[in-house]
Amino acid sequence: MSRIVKQRTWLILALLASVLALASIIFLLVSWLYLPHARSDRQNGNELKIPDMLQDQNADPDMAEFVLEAQSGQTNFLGSVMTDTLGYNGSYLGPVLRIRRGEKVTIHVNNRLDFPTTLHWHGLVVDGEQDGGPHQGIQPGESWNPSFTVDQPAATLWYHPHLLGDTADQVYYGLSGLIYIEDEISDQLNLPQTYGQNDIPLIVQDRSFNRDGSLAIRTSMMGVAAGDTLLINGTVNPYLDVAGEAVRFRILNASNAQNMTFRFSDNSRFWQIASDGGFLAAPLIRRSVFLAPGERAEIIVDFSKTTRSDVALMVGKSALMAIHISDERADTFDIPESLTQIEPLPEDHAPNTRIFDLQSMGISGTINGQFFDMNRIDEEVRLGETEIWIIRNRGGMMQAGGHPFHVHGTQFQIISRNGRPPPPHEQGFKDTVFVPIGEEVAIRVRFTHAGLFMYHCHILEHEDNGMMGQFQVS
Ligand code: C2O
Ligand code: CU
Ligand code: CU
Repeated sequence: MSRIVKQRTWLILALLASVLALASIIFLLVSWLYLPHARSDRQNGNELKIPDMLQDQNADPDMAEFVLEAQSGQTNFLGSVMTDTLGYNGSYLGPVLRIRRGEKVTIHVNNRLDFPTTLHWHGLVVDGEQDGGPHQGIQPGESWNPSFTVDQPAATLWYHPHLLGDTADQVYYGLSGLIYIEDEISDQLNLPQTYGQNDIPLIVQDRSFNRDGSLAIRTSMMGVAAGDTLLINGTVNPYLDVAGEAVRFRILNASNAQNMTFRFSDNSRFWQIASDGGFLAAPLIRRSVFLAPGERAEIIVDFSKTTRSDVALMVGKSALMAIHISDERADTFDIPESLTQIEPLPEDHAPNTRIFDLQSMGISGTINGQFFDMNRIDEEVRLGETEIWIIRNRGGMMQAGGHPFHVHGTQFQIISRNGRPPPPHEQGFKDTVFVPIGEEVAIRVRFTHAGLFMYHCHILEHEDNGMMGQFQVS
């Protein structure tokens, strides 16, 4: 190449470079001018997804009708790749079913999957036939149409499949959703209740992904699912924009197996207002909330007083969600002094007492020494009688932690933990109670609906592998 050609090439290259540099400066300037709302602190987070509120198909205020379609699909969690998932009326998770106390509800559950499923209403007090347990399988292409009247206090409940041996996988791939029950008390209490704005559902799950984007079931040493990525409402690395006002979070630990302790990065105080079965008697000031799989808590955080513009919701030591607080400040929020009246369940003078010994071996486990058997009824319970159930965790081989013990068809009251009264946040109605190794929990329980129901460990791998029993209420 001659010297002149070389010089010319250099000149052209230099020119091109300066044009490019100028163009990028102009571009940056223009975007800085025209996108004043784009925030640099947002990094590459994703806006928190808010599940749809499912449309009630029945105009009659005393009736509700919902359609849920279990289906497979693809979900974009990671940006660059798609993930095969399962969902209701969508590709991952399902819509919120909002029901008023007293309403007669009919739900059409259509199975558009190519394998059987069931749909259980976790925390809802309905007859065994409507409960959606392992006996109410829905074959591919078929529908199940349960109908019941909801008669229990305002609460945040949830729904998920319960097919024997397949619950863990079906939930892991995305089949879960929330149920809100509202009543006169929840109407009258002056609590944040604008859905998606200051009343925010948080379905928290741990998941793992393969390189190609597919969901990976990675298990801990104990054989139960232990994901390395936390999702809220199916959002990886979520952020949430809120106004400077009181915000209510309805938190569900929908993980297969992981316990979670929630708090805020600035260690700020908040109120816990509800547990599994509805409102606590009075708001409790707390700095953290522990939830085992299946458990729920409703909390209220008052952002009207904060001077911060950012805070993170934490799980353990990791930031789970960035919360950006806008500059508007609402008037100060007054939390109600009391929320509801919690009447102790009526106690018979010689209540029937049953003992449930939990023991696990890695992925499997037993209750009272027995693996689950669909054809065996473990307990017979009289309708309407209050009983005392004592749940004991005897430990076991390769057992890392406790078991969340869940009972279908009821909301119970915890009487004692290791002989002592339960802490205040466990004095409301519960349907799932965490029993650590070596501990013993006594609950007062009453069944007002007849039929066949399940009790089990809500670590889904344990539930699928033996740690479940069934009882007949009549
Ligand atoms: Cu959340 Cu037997 O269920
Ligand atoms: Cu349940
Ligand atoms: Cu367990």
